[in-house]
Amino acid sequence: RHYAINACLAPLYSLEGMHIITVEGIGDRQRGLHPVQERLAKAHGSQCGFCTPGFVMSMYALLRSSKHPPTEEQIEDSLAGNLCRCTGYRPIIDAFRVFAKTDDSLYTASPSENANGQAICPSTGKPCSCRNETDVNANESSTLSSVKVYLPCSYNEIDGNSYSEKELIFPPELQLRKFMPLKLNGFNGIRWYRPLKLEQLLYLRSCYPDAKLIIGNSEVGVETKFKNAQYKVMISVTHVPELHTLKVEEHGLHIGSAVRLAQLQKFLKNVIAERGSHETSSCHAILRQLKWFAGTQIRNVASVGGNICTASPISDLNPLWMATGANFQIIDVNNNVRTTAAKDFFLGYRKVDLKADEILLSVILPWTRPYEYVKEFKQAHRREDDIALVNAGMRMHITEAEGNWIVSDVSIVYGGVAVVPLTAAKTEKFLVGKKLDDGLLDETFNLLKEDIPLAENAPGGMVEFRSSLTLSFFFKFFLYVTHEMNIKGLRKVGLDAANMSAIQSYTRPVSIGTQGYESVGQGTAVGQPMVHMSAMLQVTGEAEYVDDTPTPPNNLHAALVLSKKAHARILSIDDSVAKCSPGFAGVFLSKDVPGSNHIGPIIHDEEVFASDVVTCVGQIIGIVVADTHDNAKAAANKVNIEYSELPAILSISEAVKAGSFHPNTTRCLSNGDVEQCFASNTCDKIIEGEIRVGGQEHFYMEPQCTFVWPVDSGNEIHMISSTQAPQKHQKYVANALGLPLSKVVCKTKRIGGGFGGKETRSAIFAAAASVASYCLRRPVKIVLDRDVDMITTGQRHSFLGKYKLGFTNDGKIQALDLEIYNNGGNSLDLSLAVLERAVFHSENVYAIPNIRVSGKVCFTNFPSNTAFRGFGGPQGMLIAENWIHHMATELKRSPEEIKELNFQSEGTELYYGQLLKNCTMHSVWDELKASCNILEARKAVNVFNSENRWRKRGIAMVPTKFGISFTAKFMNQAGALVQVYTDGTVLVTHGGVEMGQGLHTKIAQVAASSLDIPLSCVFISETSTDKVPNASPTAASASSDLYGAAVLDACQQIKARMEPIASRGNHKSFAELAQACYMERVDLSAHGFYITPDIGFDWIAGKGSPFNYFTYGAAFAEVEIDTLTGDFHTRTADIVMDLGYSINPAIDIGQIEGAFIQGLGWAAMEELKWGDDNHKWIRPGYLFTCGPGSYKIPSVNDIPLNFKVSLLKGVPNPRAIHSSKAVGEPPFFLASAILFAIKDAIAAARAEEGHLDWFPLDNPATPERIRMACVDSITKKFASVYYRPKLSV
Ligand SMILES: Cc1cc2nc3c(=O)[nH]c(=O)nc-3n(C[C@H](O)[C@H](O)[C@H](O)COP(=O)(O)OP(=O)(O)OC[C@H]3O[C@@H](n4cnc5c(N)ncnc54)[C@H](O)[C@@H]3O)c2cc1C
Ligand code: FES
Repeated sequence: RHYAINACLAPLYSLEGMHIITVEGIGDRQRGLHPVQERLAKAHGSQCGFCTPGFVMSMYALLRSSKHPPTEEQIEDSLAGNLCRCTGYRPIIDAFRVFAKTDDSLYTASPSENANGQAICPSTGKPCSCRNETDVNANESSTLSSVKVYLPCSYNEIDGNSYSEKELIFPPELQLRKFMPLKLNGFNGIRWYRPLKLEQLLYLRSCYPDAKLIIGNSEVGVETKFKNAQYKVMISVTHVPELHTLKVEEHGLHIGSAVRLAQLQKFLKNVIAERGSHETSSCHAILRQLKWFAGTQIRNVASVGGNICTASPISDLNPLWMATGANFQIIDVNNNVRTTAAKDFFLGYRKVDLKADEILLSVILPWTRPYEYVKEFKQAHRREDDIALVNAGMRMHITEAEGNWIVSDVSIVYGGVAVVPLTAAKTEKFLVGKKLDDGLLDETFNLLKEDIPLAENAPGGMVEFRSSLTLSFFFKFFLYVTHEMNIKGLRKVGLDAANMSAIQSYTRPVSIGTQGYESVGQGTAVGQPMVHMSAMLQVTGEAEYVDDTPTPPNNLHAALVLSKKAHARILSIDDSVAKCSPGFAGVFLSKDVPGSNHIGPIIHDEEVFASDVVTCVGQIIGIVVADTHDNAKAAANKVNIEYSELPAILSISEAVKAGSFHPNTTRCLSNGDVEQCFASNTCDKIIEGEIRVGGQEHFYMEPQCTFVWPVDSGNEIHMISSTQAPQKHQKYVANALGLPLSKVVCKTKRIGGGFGGKETRSAIFAAAASVASYCLRRPVKIVLDRDVDMITTGQRHSFLGKYKLGFTNDGKIQALDLEIYNNGGNSLDLSLAVLERAVFHSENVYAIPNIRVSGKVCFTNFPSNTAFRGFGGPQGMLIAENWIHHMATELKRSPEEIKELNFQSEGTELYYGQLLKNCTMHSVWDELKASCNILEARKAVNVFNSENRWRKRGIAMVPTKFGISFTAKFMNQAGALVQVYTDGTVLVTHGGVEMGQGLHTKIAQVAASSLDIPLSCVFISETSTDKVPNASPTAASASSDLYGAAVLDACQQIKARMEPIASRGNHKSFAELAQACYMERVDLSAHGFYITPDIGFDWIAGKGSPFNYFTYGAAFAEVEIDTLTGDFHTRTADIVMDLGYSINPAIDIGQIEGAFIQGLGWAAMEELKWGDDNHKWIRPGYLFTCGPGSYKIPSVNDIPLNFKVSLLKGVPNPRAIHSSKAVGEPPFFLASAILFAIKDAIAAARAEEGHLDWFPLDNPATPERIRMACVDSITKKFASVYYRPKLSV
């Protein structure tokens, strides 16, 4: 059997006797790619590549573990535990869809040939007979739909090699090997036992009563890795047969404690298929709950007993074991077995009824009786692979008494509301003996409120929401039982159709993606949907990132000493204990910085190491280096710092109140006369409001890392960094070490995602590591753990917007007065530029005759916020879309109508003076309207909403206009170096960084077309400060424009030099020509340079043209929400964008899809929770959501069911290279269509309760915000109708 598992949670010892298959093992460049790898590469499913091996292995394990090709649903399911931040998942799913048996034509259309002409089955990679002659040629059609078109798999295209390996088999040595009990001694005196029999296990238990039992290690692994837990003796019970029992018995099921959850799922499915339906209500409930329990990789290892004995307050199964009346069998070291009811087993916080000499043997799950109903509930931030906010198990038995059907037995148990699963005892007592009718509900709700009290500052917060959920769950259960009784004829009156919407479980169909674009070929490569140049390396795991760089033997690892206070004076730093820590090599503080301790990208308002005062939690105070990463971390933890605390500013509102702003950051732009317009009678209506815009974590997959080493004893410093701005690393390091820039080199080959988070914030870690490296004259590597990365690096700025808007009754905007504030954090970083872009984008696409936008950057005691895809643009536009939606509500007209009425158009002079030229907004909008058929969609949504009380659908259309250029004029310059070699190959180096966005591929296409050579002749190796100096960061979406033009310039120079030779001879190939030029002593290397013409902005005059051009787009979204839980899913997303003549439509579409899904995270899923006035249960200034466990980015399950992306055709852009347009940031904002569609659905729910007024909905529209906005009799028990859930802003 093959299982995909999480390597980081699998102790090496646990793998004894297993065959470990990694991505490198299934295929590589020498042997050729495995079909799974090849599909992913060719279907554009790998961008930065950091997540790619994980996806390959999940798919590979699925294929190897199923006898038959899997279904499309199984494929999507199996990817649930994999995260990708770049692609938006659609191309990954599409790549793998070919392996599903659902669509036979896809399955059979794709076999390919091996070297002998034998067909190879795509699902196994082995010879097969499913060959079909109809290959689809993707290049035949100019408009491609990836659903229909699958490139044939052919291994021999991979670097000339063919995939000749047979599928890996289980090694015969291991097959013949007899399993033996294990006793292993590990580091630090750890002992690992693996008994093979129960008696051996019990003996070990008697010898080591404190030993940890290990099965999946998914809980213990987290404790030891992240919570500093240390266990000296571990007993792996994975091979003890008695703990693996899975038996059907007379009274129910016997489930061994070591049974893995994936095994249990399979077993329950079989039991359900074989037994009478009334017996298996509990089985159904557990099976449904398991569907949303972690992801496949965890369920493959995690066990039933591990979950029970962990006794986590949010365990998804424990409330169900209790509610179903399950019993636990417990065995002691003397072989005595006792049975205890699940409801009596949980004694306190992670405390269970197990003595030191006992272990859990098994679970006995009773069959349900006729008329006994069991139901599970779980609401999390994200449906897939997330822990519950509240969960529950409920069971009710109905029996007949004196002609009435009454509740004879009931069990209601909640998780996530207390330290142990909580039984609603008073409610249960009340219900027993009652006839089930609607009159019971109110009293039941009141009792539930008493049974499940949540204190105001209860850990986890969201008490109004969580309390509402407890009642909502019961309400659903009540309706479910009512419905079941009605079906069985026990109740005359059934549920009316509208109420049925409360009990339908969410089931997700397979998602569908379509893409429409026109390929406008220009030369040999430009315009074609070429595969990402590194894709083949990424799918095999051969692509190297910083941490893969081989390190010399004297290398050291670094860990940071971080501030634990939001604002405090440092009184003393004691490193004496750290110095005695194992492997310690050095500790460096502010006094040790050889050059200047002051750094910053624009003004030097930061310190490499805090010297006197710390201004946020997570600020760097020092760096410790040691022989290993773990030793460095351990030593850093031993540096003891004493602080004297100072008052901290922990929100924008507090900053505004205290006048806490970064110096010289007030910005104000205006046009017309706002005051005069409001005072006159031009405006029929004037509205005011306040919008809070939440922040967002970059969550690049590769954390911040740098490897730095001294050359010639520190005369030079070299480094390899994961950064979008190598030159910034060069500058920061030179500054900190007091070296000239010419002696500091930074190289970047590729990075595993950046999204703005590695534009400036990465450089501070390079500076810190360089101090240690320089002082010790040794190489130092720093790789941040995820939590340290999230705590220290800053995020997308949260914003506060206050608006006053005047308009006419016929829907024309007359005046806007807008104040915006962004949360800069504790240093300026790029916050002013972010604010400026927000100011520029505050009108989005709307013409406003009188407008004033003023903004300020708030100084707060949080880590400095920084660039993030869109750079303030999305925040400005989100505020705009909010006020225009507010206006539409006031006018009782559709937002789409009001938007259209106020669109800017060709020739409009923007309020900051730029003229709109080549404006395609109307074409984009009209094409989208036709594509999504907005009128029909509205009608269908209205019909659905009238028929469903508890589920509502909503739609929205959102436009965007994104300005392209750095708003700082000097940054709009680019350099490149092109070198032609005598074999006709070309090495291009430019100032831009490849971070997954396909920049190198597009630039290579430009070079190939320019030199009339195939793309395969062009290579880009890395970005390096010693080849192209003074480059701007790879940011602002403009890199293809800038570096494409610089490379074109260099290629044209070389071409011009080659021309005389070319015209003289008849060269058969470019190689011959290059050789001839060499012989004639022609310089085959050229430096290219480009500046963006005709841009500039004068902030004093408040006028100018900051942007080279605009990228336009629009999106439609349709969502469905569960008004009782706040759960939602996106049914449709339809996007139209104008990207001119795309240089590479496949890459550009990948950018749109990826940005949209990242935007979905910002709009509706990802919430940063800080220790502030709103979250008193978090320590002041701390980030609670500092890892994937608590911070939820979209997963496969969250992408729209129907995801359509089209590029506007026939619209060349005269302002950029090859008539293309920039794409990286512009699509991000379009995901706000999902936020407004959710709001539309909420409005329908509120209307049911008579609330027709405008209401605020902050992003992210998490289940909490959705549920609490859908005010009803339940929410009113816990909050007022005006309640606005807390948000760290
Ligand atoms: C990414 C991720 C997602 C998760 N998602 C969820 C989720 O959605 N819902 C949820 O409820 N949980 C979730 N968990 C928690 C965890 O996976 C489960 O609790 C899992 O079932 C633990 O099983 P295990 O075999 O891995 O336990 P282990 O880590 O091996 O052991 C856990 C504990 O149980 C004890 N133990 C194990 N067997 C016995 C026994 N027979 N007798 C006595 N003690 C025993 C061990 O000593 C240890 O203290 C998640 C964890 C991770 C890492
Ligand atoms: S390609 Fe998936 S994270 Fe970058």
